[in-house]
Amino acid sequence: MEEKIKALRDALKKADQVAVLTGAGISAESGVPTFRGDEGIWKSYRATDLATPEAFARDPELVWRFYNWRRELISKVTYNLAHKALVELKGLVPGFTLITQNVDGLHLLSGSQNLLEIHGNLWKVRCTKCQKITLDRSPDLRTSPKCKFCGGLLRPHVVWFGEALDPAILNKSVDASRTSQVMLVIGTSAVVQPAASLALEAKSGGAVVAEINLESTPHSHFMDFSLLGKAGEIVPKLVEAWG
Ligand code: OAD
Repeated sequence: MEEKIKALRDALKKADQVAVLTGAGISAESGVPTFRGDEGIWKSYRATDLATPEAFARDPELVWRFYNWRRELISKVTYNLAHKALVELKGLVPGFTLITQNVDGLHLLSGSQNLLEIHGNLWKVRCTKCQKITLDRSPDLRTSPKCKFCGGLLRPHVVWFGEALDPAILNKSVDASRTSQVMLVIGTSAVVQPAASLALEAKSGGAVVAEINLESTPHSHFMDFSLLGKAGEIVPKLVEAWG
């Protein structure tokens, strides 16, 4: 493992452009539940009941109860050593883009810049009528929050299953992946598209691709480095002893 970490650090040191893709696993050590796996959210809840536009149209109060539960939970936790190490990494390389599937806001809280939140942000709300997006960090928005501009029903500003990603954010993510010389893929099961395809974009653009995860994923076979272990332990080692 130490050899692999050193070799990956050397690749990072040579890179002008680094892209990082993160998923729920990077926040797991902060105490945020992941989606898949034995303890995952989608083991206890059905995504189709809670994270689709149809679910919201059918029962907005149920959907809001789910998001208020997550807001409450995430309001009590903070970023961890892996989030912090990525802030440090940005300062060490000339070009850096952080693409996250997470909506928990922990990258922003840790001070990350050049951040693309491709699935949105749990702390933002969007009016279903006037479409205005606002930031609201109160842990509990109750079950039918209303827009302060037009009185329309608010929804979480997150991407649900069956919805398209913001094309501008997706384009920037694809560009950053394609032009990277090293891409780190941290704590994602690599099953949700289009995020999962970003590592392939990087690989086909000639990047060194590295995965940091507790276990192998469907992408492990094309990774140049597969570092199995906790993000909070491995990511800080990449920036330690940079020299
Ligand atoms: P998943 O829950 O699918 O996967 C989490 C991954 O993190 C798994 O591969 C775990 O092995 C790994 N993991 C867990 N703890 C870790 C740790 N301490 N260090 C390193 N790895 C660890 O989460 P995502 O891949 O982020 O979408 O899921 C993708 C999308 O599916 C989410 O953004 C969400 C979800 O449904 C939407 O809500 C649109």
